[in-house]
Amino acid sequence: MAIPETIIQQITAKVDFLELVGQYTSLQRVGDRYRGLCPFHQEKTPSFYVQPDKRLFYCFGCGKGGNLFQFLMEMEHLTFPEAVRRLAEKAGIQVDLYDEQSLEKGRRQDAILQLLKRVAGSFHYILMYSPQGIPARTYLRKRGLEDSIISKFQLGYAPADPYWLKKFLEKKNFSRELLLESGLFTHRSPDRAFFVHRIMFPIYSSQGDVVAFGGRKLSGEGPKYLNSAESALFKKGEFLYGFYQAREEIRRTRTAVLVEGYMDVIALHQAGVEVSVAPLGTALTPAQVRLLKRFADRVILFFDKDEAGLQAMRKAAILCEQEELEPFAVSLEEFPYKDPADFIQNGQKGELQKIVKYPIPILEFLLKKTSLKKDTGTHQGNLLKVEDLFPYIESMVSEVRREAAIAQIADFFELDRDSIRKDFQRKKWINAPRKVSQEERKTESIQRTPEIILMILAMESRKNFEDIRSRIALDDFEDPRGRELYITLEELYREEEWSIDRICQRISDEALKDFVLSKLISSEFKMNQERLINDSVMFLKRRNLERQRQQVLKAIQRCERTNQAEELSQLLEKKMYLDGELEKLRAVENE
Ligand code: CTP
Ligand code: MN
Repeated sequence: MAIPETIIQQITAKVDFLELVGQYTSLQRVGDRYRGLCPFHQEKTPSFYVQPDKRLFYCFGCGKGGNLFQFLMEMEHLTFPEAVRRLAEKAGIQVDLYDEQSLEKGRRQDAILQLLKRVAGSFHYILMYSPQGIPARTYLRKRGLEDSIISKFQLGYAPADPYWLKKFLEKKNFSRELLLESGLFTHRSPDRAFFVHRIMFPIYSSQGDVVAFGGRKLSGEGPKYLNSAESALFKKGEFLYGFYQAREEIRRTRTAVLVEGYMDVIALHQAGVEVSVAPLGTALTPAQVRLLKRFADRVILFFDKDEAGLQAMRKAAILCEQEELEPFAVSLEEFPYKDPADFIQNGQKGELQKIVKYPIPILEFLLKKTSLKKDTGTHQGNLLKVEDLFPYIESMVSEVRREAAIAQIADFFELDRDSIRKDFQRKKWINAPRKVSQEERKTESIQRTPEIILMILAMESRKNFEDIRSRIALDDFEDPRGRELYITLEELYREEEWSIDRICQRISDEALKDFVLSKLISSEFKMNQERLINDSVMFLKRRNLERQRQQVLKAIQRCERTNQAEELSQLLEKKMYLDGELEKLRAVENE
């Protein structure tokens, strides 16, 4: 891959690493490092660290680590050249990387993103200004949406003519293959648009790229809502509608409002509740909860006032508890509206705003819907059975929280706590095993040998390596991984390159790289470096001398048996020399 090293360095120097990572997870300063919840795996206590001065990240939970390029590659599923291009753009650096094989995929994805962005813009324009857009415009007005919010979400209209989009894009010189890959055309007849005569909801990545669309039927046949097909860019279960628009406010308030539909998200934003998001037509997934958990501590569940909404809320509450995102609920009991969008349609912006200001803990909400009876019919009005609460109770991570919940249920029904507890403990209530994603901790297989410790210290500064190499040779290294590092560092030393980044790029052993990164980013080897170097060097030297001495002793025994006098005297001389060296070492050590 012919990306000039100078470009890499320029990018590294220019891009604010903390800011980049901060787009994916909130970081808190601890000493000279920053800590946060790992964006790569599910976790409840932060084990993800960033070392800004070294421009490295590492997660002690899942073992992922590396430089800013690796961060973006992992995060956005990019190849190295793709990541370089993105970051170069961010840094305002011109990179000419053409006709490289590996760039092909990245270019296509970029081209698709551009296409989707362009199409979103056109749909929006048509909705707002074209005569074709009048029915859609009228419809949205009728539902109470203001122009400013329509623009904020770039809502659009996909024309009724199924061939319009193809003709429009061909004029813009997008290739046939690209059009097919975009998800905007049906595979059966590739000239026909997938979304026809629909209100269009662009779905953004958390970076603000349009990755897909949702489309609502205006009239006629077909399902009420359609989503773009899944692709490399778009996995339904990993995105939340509105997350891009809500992200900053969620981060600021540590709160999100989770609703069922696109229109609900928009309704809440219009009411000034700019933290609302929704799954994309499917049930909430753990990945979506994790996305929220990056920025929020609590989530207000505001689902439709029907049986389906209640059950969805119960399930969402379980997922939230498992991720220790505290669930609250909004009750629509006293209102004639079935969902947030209804408030806006009826001009009740103020009411909508008020209702999310005072959410109640989800258990309180669920209790109100609960009957003691075992066979509660749903026709009696959204009722749950006590047993229906148990999976939720079980999902709680904290024992204390669980006990409090049991007490609350007991109090609510004026029952004995023990009987509730006994009922609860009768069996496991959640069938699915709890997903505590345990990515193998690859680093555990690496031993902390003195060789590795020395090499980690060497990476801390070129001066350290200079010191080490003057005192100990590669021959004194036994650990093969330590040897690999020594050789790599020696190369870089000669090339006068000394950045951890460069070093890590050269380590081909993934497990070793992870281990090294984890140590560099922990403060384990920051203090007393001189003494650590000294101790490790001494240890390796002594071990080497002692091993040689053992070999000599064996050889001496053999010679004594076979009466080889000449060789014997040589060996004895060697032994005396080794004893002397060991004696010297001991003397230095005792200084
Ligand atoms: N949905 C879907 N496919 C459908 C119906 C719904 O994917 N055929 C998804 C959409 O994401 C929608 C959400 O489920 O936003 C909520 O659906 P529903 O409650 O039926 O729609 P409303 O929010 O009431 O939609 P609207 O207000 O536009 O009538
Ligand atoms: Mn709805």
